[in-house]
Amino acid sequence: MAPGPLSPLAVEDLPQVAAIEALVFPEPLSLADLRRLWDDPATSYVGYRAGDRIAAYFGFQTSGPTAHVISNATHPDFRRQGLGGRVLQEAEPLARRRGARWFLGEVRVSNTAQLRVLHRIGWVEVGGCPAFFGNGEDAIVVWRCLP
Ligand SMILES: CC(C)(COP(=O)(O)OP(=O)(O)OC[C@H]1O[C@@H](n2cnc3c(N)ncnc32)[C@H](O)[C@@H]1OP(=O)(O)O)[C@@H](O)C(=O)NCCC(=O)NCCS
Repeated sequence: MAPGPLSPLAVEDLPQVAAIEALVFPEPLSLADLRRLWDDPATSYVGYRAGDRIAAYFGFQTSGPTAHVISNATHPDFRRQGLGGRVLQEAEPLARRRGARWFLGEVRVSNTAQLRVLHRIGWVEVGGCPAFFGNGEDAIVVWRCLP
């Protein structure tokens, strides 16, 4: 089934988000982490549904002009259909409505797939941060001015 349009996620979607996190991230957010984030009014989660499955999602938190990326992922069954870039782009108006002027995120230096997606959709690399991640991996700090 093809994914539908971008929509806000519901609290009932969090177990599925936690399952995708566990599948694709070296240091995934647990369901408890996600519930804590969800309870913070600064948090937004959007995604694409394919039937009752979540094909891709994106979570961010706004604080003043910054919309900070929590995480975005595409379920492995739905990769390479453009969803990873689309979810970030189509969330831009929402971040703008929530008062943000830019997205800010941290990407593992090894994450070539995400870095390629981000370059393609106009994000820029601001700099590096050594040993940013829990396992000691360096981060590339990425930024996107919201149109
Ligand atoms: C990064 C990610 C979101 C991309 O999802 P996607 O829906 O496949 O993204 P798109 O279809 O927009 O772009 C796919 C692009 O990613 C890159 N890509 C995909 N898989 C790749 C791989 N195994 N190695 C290198 N590049 C890869 C390619 O540039 C590809 O473009 P192409 O098909 O034109 O070559 C997805 O790989 C993912 O969920 N990864 C794990 C979670 C993650 O790292 N999230 C980001 C950090 S918060």
